[in-house]
Amino acid sequence: MHHFQYRDQVLFAEDVPLEKIGQEVGTPCYVYSYATLTHHFKVFDGAFAEVPHLTCYSVKACSNIAIVRLFARMGGGTDIVSGGELFRALKAGVPANKIVFSGVGKTEKEIAMALEAGILMFNVESEQELLTIAEVAKQKGKTAPISLRVNPDVDPKTHPYISTGLKKNKFGIDIQLAKSLYLKAKEIPYVRVVGIDCHIGSQLTTLSPFLDALERIKQLYKELEKEGLGPQYLDLGGGLGIPYHGEEPPHPKEYAQAIIKAAKDLNCTLIFEPGRVIVGNAGILLTKVLYLKQNREKNFVIVDAAMNDLARPSLYGAYHEILPVKNEDKEMLVADIVGPICESGDFLAKDRKIKQVNKGDLLAVMSAGAYGFSMSSNYNSRPRAAEVLVKGSEYFIIRERERYEDLIRLEKIPAWLE
Ligand code: LLP
Repeated sequence: MHHFQYRDQVLFAEDVPLEKIGQEVGTPCYVYSYATLTHHFKVFDGAFAEVPHLTCYSVKACSNIAIVRLFARMGGGTDIVSGGELFRALKAGVPANKIVFSGVGKTEKEIAMALEAGILMFNVESEQELLTIAEVAKQKGKTAPISLRVNPDVDPKTHPYISTGLKKNKFGIDIQLAKSLYLKAKEIPYVRVVGIDCHIGSQLTTLSPFLDALERIKQLYKELEKEGLGPQYLDLGGGLGIPYHGEEPPHPKEYAQAIIKAAKDLNCTLIFEPGRVIVGNAGILLTKVLYLKQNREKNFVIVDAAMNDLARPSLYGAYHEILPVKNEDKEMLVADIVGPICESGDFLAKDRKIKQVNKGDLLAVMSAGAYGFSMSSNYNSRPRAAEVLVKGSEYFIIRERERYEDLIRLEKIPAWLE
């Protein structure tokens, strides 16, 4: 359920017509719906109400500090994967003791920063990383709370670029080796084992990979318990998918019920790291038609948003529905919807059947809230789009459109070229 709906054939974000935002803020811009964001967080978090749990929103999905703060205000924590995300989470007001730190390549500096902040736990992805965390903790005179991110070798049946829980992936610690590393960790000073973690991939549309992974993790958990190492936290990562184009992923309640049932004999607090399922359908990318053109083979609709704004179609061949902001009765057209970037891979949609559009029309690229703005870049020296948060009949610019000066802000001309 989301709050981007037509009223009298005009597309609204909650109670604000998108045309108004297009005119006043300009395009391209990301528009998020407060009601959708909060509803999704409540549904997900509420689905686990009957068990001790913590919902750690995955900052990478949509990293704007206003959005991160919103979930923090609702009692959420965050899942972070870099010093930059830690900085954002703290700026957004997320209590440090609700932050989990994942990622295969944490630097010493990032580890030190997280120790100083006092995060809930490090999800450790290799033995060398474990030793480095212990070393940094020793220097700081602190004890680092850790869990091992276990790679359960389960096929999440999603796009290969976003599957992470197979043994051929770079993520996590091979489940066969995890027990011995846990036993080692138990003996290492300055680290304290508090959890067990796994995240097998993103945009999962069935429950079975989650449950298969959980079964494997449970076995390990039980073995660890026998060794006097019953971790307090079980972090099951993120990954629940959303409908982009007819997919029918399990509802969060269904996901929660299955997990609660499978995990009920474990004596621990569950942690989740949802990203897409919370923000994916809560945001759109608003863009304007610049030109129409045809060649002998194809129709092209050239819009002012490009792969630098939304990389998912180019990178994963991802499908995003594209809707006219004014939904008039018109002929249908089959076209590639492309951006201004100088790459053939710069498209938002290929061979897409849409209603005939004209120069100047606004289009909404739907389900762009997750991995949209957060993956955007300045390629072709395009200033990054503005981000807007709609709440009822009001809207707020939560990130200004970048200016040309922002593009060169950190660049320097050496003296010998002056
Ligand atoms: N936890 C960890 C350790 C992760 O690596 C991720 C996502 C999440 C949680 C959140 O997963 P979610 O609930 O959003 O599925 N750029 C890709 C998705 C990359 C996902 C990376 N990791 C896309 O646009 O589809």
